[in-house]
Amino acid sequence: MNQHTEAFLAPLAQPPHDWAAVGKPHPHESARLHVTGEAVYTDDIPELRGTLHAALGLSQKAHARVRAIDLEKVKAAPGVKAVFTAADIPGDNECGAILHDDPVLADGLVQYVGQPLFIVVADSHELARRAARLAVIDYEELPAILTPRQAHAAQSYVLPPMHLSRGEPAIALALAPHRLRGQFDVGGQEQFYLEGQISYAIPKEGRGMHVYCSTQHPSEMQHHVATVLGLASHDVLVECRRMGGGFGGKESQSALWACAAAVAAARLQRPVKLRADRDDDMMVTGKRHCFAYDYEIGYDDHGRIVAAKIEMISRAGFSADLSGPVATRAVCHFDNAYYLSDVDIRAMCGKTNTQSNTAFRGFGGPQGALAIEYIIDDIARHLGRDPLEIRRNNFYGPSDEEGPQARNVTHYGQKVEDNIIPALVDQLERSSRYQERRQAVAAFNAGSTVLKKGLALTPVKFGISFNVPHLNQAGALVHVYTDGSVLVNHGGTEMGQGLNTKVAQVVAHTLGVPLERVRCSATDTSKVANTSATAASTGSDLNGKAAQDAALQVRTRLAQVAATLLGVEPTAVRFADGRVMAGAQSMAFAELVMKAYLQRVQLWSDGFYSTPKVHWDAKRMHGHPFFYFAYAAAVSEVVIDTLTGEWKLLQADLLYDAGQSLNPALDIGQVEGGFIQGMGWLTTEELWWNKDGKLMTHAPSTYKIPAISDCPARLRTELFQNRNVSDTIHRSKAVGEPPLLLPFSVFLAIRDAVSAVGGHRVNPPLRAPATSEAILDAVDAVRAATASR
Ligand code: MTE
Ligand code: MOS
Repeated sequence: MNQHTEAFLAPLAQPPHDWAAVGKPHPHESARLHVTGEAVYTDDIPELRGTLHAALGLSQKAHARVRAIDLEKVKAAPGVKAVFTAADIPGDNECGAILHDDPVLADGLVQYVGQPLFIVVADSHELARRAARLAVIDYEELPAILTPRQAHAAQSYVLPPMHLSRGEPAIALALAPHRLRGQFDVGGQEQFYLEGQISYAIPKEGRGMHVYCSTQHPSEMQHHVATVLGLASHDVLVECRRMGGGFGGKESQSALWACAAAVAAARLQRPVKLRADRDDDMMVTGKRHCFAYDYEIGYDDHGRIVAAKIEMISRAGFSADLSGPVATRAVCHFDNAYYLSDVDIRAMCGKTNTQSNTAFRGFGGPQGALAIEYIIDDIARHLGRDPLEIRRNNFYGPSDEEGPQARNVTHYGQKVEDNIIPALVDQLERSSRYQERRQAVAAFNAGSTVLKKGLALTPVKFGISFNVPHLNQAGALVHVYTDGSVLVNHGGTEMGQGLNTKVAQVVAHTLGVPLERVRCSATDTSKVANTSATAASTGSDLNGKAAQDAALQVRTRLAQVAATLLGVEPTAVRFADGRVMAGAQSMAFAELVMKAYLQRVQLWSDGFYSTPKVHWDAKRMHGHPFFYFAYAAAVSEVVIDTLTGEWKLLQADLLYDAGQSLNPALDIGQVEGGFIQGMGWLTTEELWWNKDGKLMTHAPSTYKIPAISDCPARLRTELFQNRNVSDTIHRSKAVGEPPLLLPFSVFLAIRDAVSAVGGHRVNPPLRAPATSEAILDAVDAVRAATASR
């Protein structure tokens, strides 16, 4: 039996790595198009004759009643064709992702600086933007709440507080050999997709509307556009070939742009394009939630946590958007890689007069897990031990343990069924030479007063699936044309992560054809209906399985035809290398396809997948929300300048568990990209609102994302050899978001370097992002604390 025969007989159970399409480091399906500039993004779609351009008129106040809007100057501005306010919306003025608290256009009340009040439509993008600034608005100002702690003090929330408790945290805390309490704050983060928000709406016959939209969630855009236009879903078609990045920012918040463009297009019966300028995009749309934490921890002499109490308050912004699920994920990731026996977690979504914060890679998971890592770092310093040792002492226990001693059930009740954290961390400790480098760092610091080095190893455990069970479903269509070429359409969206490449690999593998024979088409709500957002890192898990299902149905029919032609059983027919084989006989795949067509066999199929096993009781915050966990770990080494607060990442070693990777090249790209993006969040990217609630960091001039020069000279990324214990597509694991948690190691290495200033005797109060200013503040605090001892 050769390799390919095995492949056919056990398509799902065998390791795919030696097969043609799956498991190979194929380049991104659009790589050539990206680098040649041929790739078509929404703004590149040739404009239809008569296309007009829209811009949004924004609130200048954080919280105010609008007494009057005078739009005369706007209407009289050059090139302006029309101006629309809330009163002009034909259907509901609403585009909230979950609650109905998100107007497309503010109506009488503005709740943040940047909130859209009206739409200007003009002959060009530039003219529309200029005109949008000419409105004269009479505001009656109201008190504004700007920070999560202020919101918490005022009990101002967008949703009821959440609470999760296990064991007897109060008693365990009282009995703990050691206790510590503290506060910690982490900032938010702008998604900074290179392609800004954009929609191009084209009216169709019979009140129809076709919207090209840069979105992670075409089905939700279809729903919102129908709602604002007072139409049914079947009247609206939303299409997205690709995004120039989404990072969560186009999961729900593409809606405003889709709806505004559609309203203008419907009213004028002309194609209307709405493209956000970078500053407007940053002023209007939500970001990663900043979090404020208050914690109290009990631990023993080994640094083992015996009780954890924490309050987390997020900055939700003015509306709920996805803040509820983000907080849920934060609560479910407070454990990160650690067993917490007795816990009490409260999570509040603070209602503030700022942009409505939303999804961003990790979706609250990073904010939850960072807290426990910071706490463990505190414990280690209190005990005078290496934090890695304390981490190890708290890791989840073996998966096969049962009974009251078992340390393998999360605080929300899900068993950790494949705990590879200790093995993965051991491997990275060795491959990164952590212990030797720990000595070297200590030696360097002993001889250096101005420059200090720091080192940290942090693990990651990240739950894969939407926390809301019904979202875990997907559909796909596979068309085989008579020339043997294959077209795939699935409900997922391409944002640079390589989803189309992975889905094409799965289909090529299933049909045994070379990858070049498979093409993915644009995501289109008229093809696969009722899709979920491409989010929660589930894109390839869900759509890969759905496409495999579709391809298998076509293959089964083809195998039947081949079996009759070759005089064998269908199970003896193999599909590989573009050929169809049985014993010594074979024919080209295309030849079989043509024969099947002539026999009137259906050569296309739909496919569907829904993730098994997941369930969640939102009230008790208990259940089995994740199909499985992805794991990873990172070691980072930094040097800081204690006089200027400048720092540099010298080396990073990353180890990621992608299960049996569908595509190691794409996966390594995701790991490195996520790592650097998360490093930006925790170090240089600082969002700053002035006292009037105006975001002052609304362009790259003041908001610093990492550049190539910030990448470490030594960046080593490896995939951990593993096979998913859960039955995922070819036993792979998701990779989109978890790497964003790897740069906890950068932040804690910086903290370690600051700590060296005080001989590791005091815990540096380092806030995140650890900007140079924050580093200097922490250095000063450590100096002051050591001097007073
Ligand atoms: N990678 C690129 N290049 N661009 C992106 O916008 N988004 C991230 C991640 N990786 C993103 C990315 C986020 S937030 C998610 S949820 C996943 O990709 C979504 O895609 P997947 O589920 O197919 O991994
Ligand atoms: Mo990703 S934050 O789930 O879009």
